[in-house]
Amino acid sequence: MNIIVCKSYDEMSLRAAQMVAAQMKEKPCSVIGLATGSTPEGLYRQLVNMYKSGEISFKGVTTINLDEYYPIAPANDQSYRYFMDHHLFDHLDIDKANTHVPDGTAADPAAEARRYEERITDLGGIDLQILGIGRNGHVGFNEPAQRLMLDTHITDLTKSTIEANSRFFASPNDVPRQALTMGIGSIFKARRIIIMASGANKKDAVRAMLERTVDTAFPATILNLHPNVTLICTADVLE
Ligand code: PGA
Repeated sequence: MNIIVCKSYDEMSLRAAQMVAAQMKEKPCSVIGLATGSTPEGLYRQLVNMYKSGEISFKGVTTINLDEYYPIAPANDQSYRYFMDHHLFDHLDIDKANTHVPDGTAADPAAEARRYEERITDLGGIDLQILGIGRNGHVGFNEPAQRLMLDTHITDLTKSTIEANSRFFASPNDVPRQALTMGIGSIFKARRIIIMASGANKKDAVRAMLERTVDTAFPATILNLHPNVTLICTADVLE
């Protein structure tokens, strides 16, 4: 795993944005895999700035997000569709038809998961995937488990994820109990992966990812098997 250590959250966000911009310049019709959460917000601000200054265009780009709560309506301000529109898509020249997020309103979530996985395949895989890391080692919503799923699937959220994400909801009871998420195999379809981490509260998770043997009880360890992963993190994560 390549490691880029940054002095601040802003520097981490800028370095990641520069790598995304380089990917888009090299291949204007890139498929970019995106993540939600606090970690990539600064990256999205940087990409919006780069677009507004005329440095990059998203006209040919397709995006595919890692996950979405289930059930949830896109208009719900805690949905990942809402997050992406609000933080990124609404500020770019991207065609919204080319932005993919699992449908949190699908009547049949298993069918929606299959449709989503087929979409990734039809797109020819992902050129560059952005990831965050959960304190319990999850990537996307691939939670610690005895077995990990390869393809996009519906999953139950763990207690620790519900607690961690309850900061965005009025109460922990309002956090959806399930999510649609890309599987480990879907993520591995990405030719390049950037995993971002910032702040001392990610220290244990990043250390475990780098030092533990590959372990389904800590899903991020599996990234050590991928041939092209870059960790971009703030210095306090590695102290
Ligand atoms: P965060 O979430 O960016 O809000 O810390 C990361 C994750 O849970 O994958």
